[in-house]
Amino acid sequence: MVYMRWRRFIELASLDRPWLGDLMEKRKGEAFRAAPVERWDQEYRDGVYDRLHRSDQRHHHRLLAAMIADRWPHPRVLEIGAGEGVFFEALRAYGPARYVGVDFSQPAVVKGSERLAGEIDTGQVALLLGDGRTFATDETFDVVVFSECIEHLGQVEPLIDHYRPMLAPGGAVGLTMWLSLKPLRLWRQLKGMGEVLDEAVVNTPWGGGWLVATVEPR
Ligand SMILES: C[S@@+](CC[C@H](N)C(=O)[O-])C[C@H]1O[C@@H](n2cnc3c(N)ncnc32)[C@H](O)[C@@H]1O
Repeated sequence: MVYMRWRRFIELASLDRPWLGDLMEKRKGEAFRAAPVERWDQEYRDGVYDRLHRSDQRHHHRLLAAMIADRWPHPRVLEIGAGEGVFFEALRAYGPARYVGVDFSQPAVVKGSERLAGEIDTGQVALLLGDGRTFATDETFDVVVFSECIEHLGQVEPLIDHYRPMLAPGGAVGLTMWLSLKPLRLWRQLKGMGEVLDEAVVNTPWGGGWLVATVEPR
């Protein structure tokens, strides 16, 4: 617990002191290794991500949904790496006009489609199987969300360039990421690509921490 609190202190301090994050990061320079789809498939089948439905695991979703709805009432949201579409549970209260979730793991999409069958039938929700690095649609959205997945999707700048045409004018990128030194590097890259509309940290007594933000890309 003492170590966890020390680590959280460093992570928080490095938010506006990148040099500190660079200094304290373990295995500096080591790139993220994206897990193959087969691993995600197996973990979804084994129920590893059932915990993501628990209330104490969804504070970041609730904060991001509130940030979005505050600026875009009844928002149109595209979520990349959506898993079972659990983020929709946080958005639901704001009456989103549209939620499209994309994930490359079939068991995740199947589970989510069963859970959200009612909303899928009305056309409010679509859960699609697709690779988040290359997915494309003619629809436009107020916000493209990357919740706990941006580190699996390659370089940040080309990724955001790819999704920019799917944003309506004035639209933004929504982000949640586990608060940890290596992913924070990606946050700095995203931050450098536009105007930060909102940025906050969620910290829980059990040791959970997420960065939650919206950025309007230039
Ligand atoms: C930690 S889970 C987060 C799920 C969801 N966004 C949430 O916040 O509850 C990361 C998700 O990213 C998905 N993912 C990883 N790489 C992907 C890719 N290249 N294309 C689409 N989805 C991907 C995984 O299948 C997994 O569902």
